Amino acid sequence: MNENTQNRPDPSSATPQSTSSVSASALPDSPLSVDRPLGTPLGPQPTRVLLLGSGELGKEVTIELMRLGAWVCAADSYAGAPAAQVAHEAQVLDMADAQKLNALIAQVKPDIIIPEVEAIATSELAEAAHRGIQVVPSSGIAAICMDRERLRTLAHDELGLPTTPYRFAGSFEELGSGAEAVGYPCVVKPIMSSSGHGQSVVERSEQLEQAWREAQTGRRAANDGTVSRVIVEALVPLAYELTVLTVSSRAGVVTCAPIGQRQDHGDYRESWQPANVDDMTLATAQRIACTAVLGMVDQAQREGERGWGVFGVELFVLDNGTVLFNEVSPRPHDTGMVTMLSQRLSEFALHARAVLGLPVTQEHLNLTLRQGSVAASHAIVVEGEGEAVFSNLPEALSGPDADLRIFAKPAVHGHRRMAVSLAIGRDVDEARARAANVADTLHVVVA
Ligand SMILES: Nc1ncnc2c1ncn2[C@@H]1O[C@H](COP(=O)(O)OP(=O)(O)OP(=O)(O)O)[C@@H](O)[C@H]1O
Ligand SMILES: [Mg+2]
Repeated sequence: MNENTQNRPDPSSATPQSTSSVSASALPDSPLSVDRPLGTPLGPQPTRVLLLGSGELGKEVTIELMRLGAWVCAADSYAGAPAAQVAHEAQVLDMADAQKLNALIAQVKPDIIIPEVEAIATSELAEAAHRGIQVVPSSGIAAICMDRERLRTLAHDELGLPTTPYRFAGSFEELGSGAEAVGYPCVVKPIMSSSGHGQSVVERSEQLEQAWREAQTGRRAANDGTVSRVIVEALVPLAYELTVLTVSSRAGVVTCAPIGQRQDHGDYRESWQPANVDDMTLATAQRIACTAVLGMVDQAQREGERGWGVFGVELFVLDNGTVLFNEVSPRPHDTGMVTMLSQRLSEFALHARAVLGLPVTQEHLNLTLRQGSVAASHAIVVEGEGEAVFSNLPEALSGPDADLRIFAKPAVHGHRRMAVSLAIGRDVDEARARAANVADTLHVVVA
């Protein structure tokens, strides 16, 4: 077992830990281990997967599942979503509506449910898991990770991971005392939101009212008539941010090479792998990632679920070198799109393998890059109203190490991520410049 396959690592220790023979999530002889029948998606005995959320990440997961012979139904709130264009079947519904989701599960009869977005009626996921359907990574983990309060409490209070100073608030008054406690400047975020929605940076107390309003209106399900709790945390001085993709499979928990990134308004714009980090930072980042994932997987397995899949663990590295846990997505991460070029098995292929019950070991996470070189991804965010038509690909992709994924979303309304360019360079700067160059060379017309 490689040194990154860890059993209950200590996040505060700097030296890599020795490993035990069986990690918390290795289940070689457990009844939860499965050998699913694959290869007859249209035949009598398919392994049926229901994907909830059919965006660009779900599309790649669908392709990888289909490559291994699974049957896939892709669901989303609108027709023609990226994964819906490649899956065996597509369904359109409001996945946050418990009744509708329940009816869909009854109709599709999946063996496995893969939530690809957070806005899902998690009560139905728990119900499905109770009936023996494999929920990825588990119904409990899906519920924890969509709720900043539950996730932060688990990570900080139960697992002892270092985080920003924070408080929770259920009213404007509580927000005021929370902000005083963590200090200014601080960040206010709704408990349930993603991609920076409803978040504000607050420099002084007079701005708190606006931040409270923003959290209430920018959050998920903003019109449900309730008041959302918020987290207020200290705005910390970031040197950089990392994503550590962490894979939980029947073989245990392992981590990918760290991914560096540039975020803009809570949305990723560029990522690169491997990120240039010193050994100490790397060891701490991997240990925090393993501790977070093992903590959740342990809990899932105690509840009789598997906890298998890819997790995107987001970390802050501060100016003084401290590494903090930020949050985790219990699914492939958007910054991980770079792995389509950098790893033999992308995060999507790893997710498909882990979910289907295949072992993922440290060797499965090897980079395919030449020694010293780096891969980068560049999000192509398009602005306008209508369909986005891409051209000039012959020039944009003329370089041998450049690549592109066009998501083929049916329309843009305002700003939307519509594609990602990928490139390899001799170092981070060159890889980023080449990926940016592919994006800049493309012609995109919205009409
Ligand atoms: N306390 C903080 N101090 C400094 N920067 C922060 C802090 N909190 C958030 N940020 C910045 O805002 C970004 C988005 O924050 P966070 O990951 O908590 O929210 P999110 O809406 O869940 O984002 P996403 O869904 O895109 O991952 C972070 O990646 C970081 O760049
Ligand atoms: Mg985030």
